[in-house]
Amino acid sequence: MLSKVKTCVLYGLDGYEVSVETDLSGGLPNFSIVGLPDISIKESKERVRSAIKNSNFNFPVSRITVNLAPANLKKEGSQVDLPIAVGILSASKIIKKPINEKTFIIGELSLDGKITGIEGALPMVISMRNNNFTKAIVPRDNREECSAIEGIDIIPVESLCELVNYLNEDFFIEPYKFSYNYTQEEFSEDFSEIKGQPAMKRAVEIAAAGNHNILLLGSPGSGKTMIARRIPTILPDLTFEESLEVTKIYSISGLLNNKGLIYRRPFRSPHHTSSRTSMAGGGTNPKPGEVSLAHNGVLFLDEIPEFPKSVLEILRQPMEDGRISISRARGSFTFPAKFMLVAAMNPCPCGYLGDPTHECSCSQGQIDKYLSKISGPLLNRIDIQVEVLPVKYEDLKNNKEEESSAEIKKRITHARQIQEERYKNMGIFTNSELPTKGIAKYCKVNRESELLLRDAFEMLGLSARAYNKILKVARTIADLEGCENIETNHVAEAIQYRSLDRKYWR
Ligand SMILES: Nc1ncnc2c1ncn2[C@@H]1O[C@H](COP(=O)(O)OP(=O)(O)OP(=O)(O)O)[C@@H](O)[C@H]1O
Ligand SMILES: [Mg+2]
Ligand SMILES: [Zn+2]
Repeated sequence: MLSKVKTCVLYGLDGYEVSVETDLSGGLPNFSIVGLPDISIKESKERVRSAIKNSNFNFPVSRITVNLAPANLKKEGSQVDLPIAVGILSASKIIKKPINEKTFIIGELSLDGKITGIEGALPMVISMRNNNFTKAIVPRDNREECSAIEGIDIIPVESLCELVNYLNEDFFIEPYKFSYNYTQEEFSEDFSEIKGQPAMKRAVEIAAAGNHNILLLGSPGSGKTMIARRIPTILPDLTFEESLEVTKIYSISGLLNNKGLIYRRPFRSPHHTSSRTSMAGGGTNPKPGEVSLAHNGVLFLDEIPEFPKSVLEILRQPMEDGRISISRARGSFTFPAKFMLVAAMNPCPCGYLGDPTHECSCSQGQIDKYLSKISGPLLNRIDIQVEVLPVKYEDLKNNKEEESSAEIKKRITHARQIQEERYKNMGIFTNSELPTKGIAKYCKVNRESELLLRDAFEMLGLSARAYNKILKVARTIADLEGCENIETNHVAEAIQYRSLDRKYWR
């Protein structure tokens, strides 16, 4: 008897259909699998045999041939054990009816017949739904994430035994429905806890409004880390599509913990000892790195000069294109990596250069060496640079109520809506993504601003990229105010956020 079972394997973030064909025939009992790498066949056979026996089914005493097609798609034993077991039970008529060809089965099978959760269930279900599959049989542990997808029935199962009963229609399993409570989880931190520091808050608000990268430079204890951690509280809510993108990445990284969609914008703060692989992504079965885990959210690099140059250079491609390519022997993978970079640093090794209240004890040589860790090209890609001064004593002591995250978020959300509307036919959402062509069209400035820009260009020795970034930041400042035209004061403020690289990195 011949049976056919469909399953899915992942390649990067995309799932591919795999067909498991099982043939039982007379002759000496034998069990062979075609289409798996040699090393994993033996183990896979043992696992399938144990799981079937331990589920109290008879393992057929016949000649069993399993073919996995297409052969050129890389598969691993543990990914295909479950469909192989179902294929054998189907060919031996323990599963009585053929399995619908628009149904696919994913999950890992343990020796006792339990079906355990897998990484990447969500991207698999999305890909297979797009290939017109109508039913996904998934491990119970993966049901929350999968059920967010419309147009396909999600059948959660816990064991091989339960699955066989379901396929034999002895036991009905209701398709799992997404409980659509799109509520934002509350944050435990808030902007209102940050006393004073109006200049830093203003710069961060502009950065968040236009999704600009930002560098905070200042003396120890001035609140840089504090404000960075609170940026997700002022960013607009994730849209459903964005939420799916983020959840897919966390799904294949195994970071979902049986939960459903991720509603919160990610905040990632990798330590400066992080490796290149953990930052960029990679491994034999490529997993997304920090730059992708921060997709649609914030990548915070605290004490950025402590990061090795080789790790920081990884950021250049994603900062430009919003994605990262990882080359492997078997081809290259691309993962999304559109994040808002927030970097923090002191101005010198002792931390107090430029601080009005402390003496800096560093030599010029030490300072130069410290600053040189941030390369020109990286600095050039940072739209907003701010110098953070120590908190004023009066600000710390007074009980003045500071603005809450909710109030700031309202302004930012409004500015984002203006940008979305303006760029709706361009496939981008924020000013930071505006390509050079768009700058000429949407960032026109008046005569007075032109003169201001010319002076700044000469005085600060700006690059063409820096010049464009000033215009984009000015656009965001105008959007925050709801102004259609960019005014001179918007340009002047934007120029001010570009002056640090000249002051410190000469
Ligand atoms: N503006 C502020 N309002 C209230 N508390 C503040 C403020 N700035 C700093 N603090 C307090 O000081 C602590 C240290 O601040 P934070 O860690 O953000 O400083 P930092 O600028 O990152 O310093 P470093 O350069 O040493 O990393 C905070 O946890 C907070 O308790
Ligand atoms: Mg800090
Ligand atoms: Zn110093």
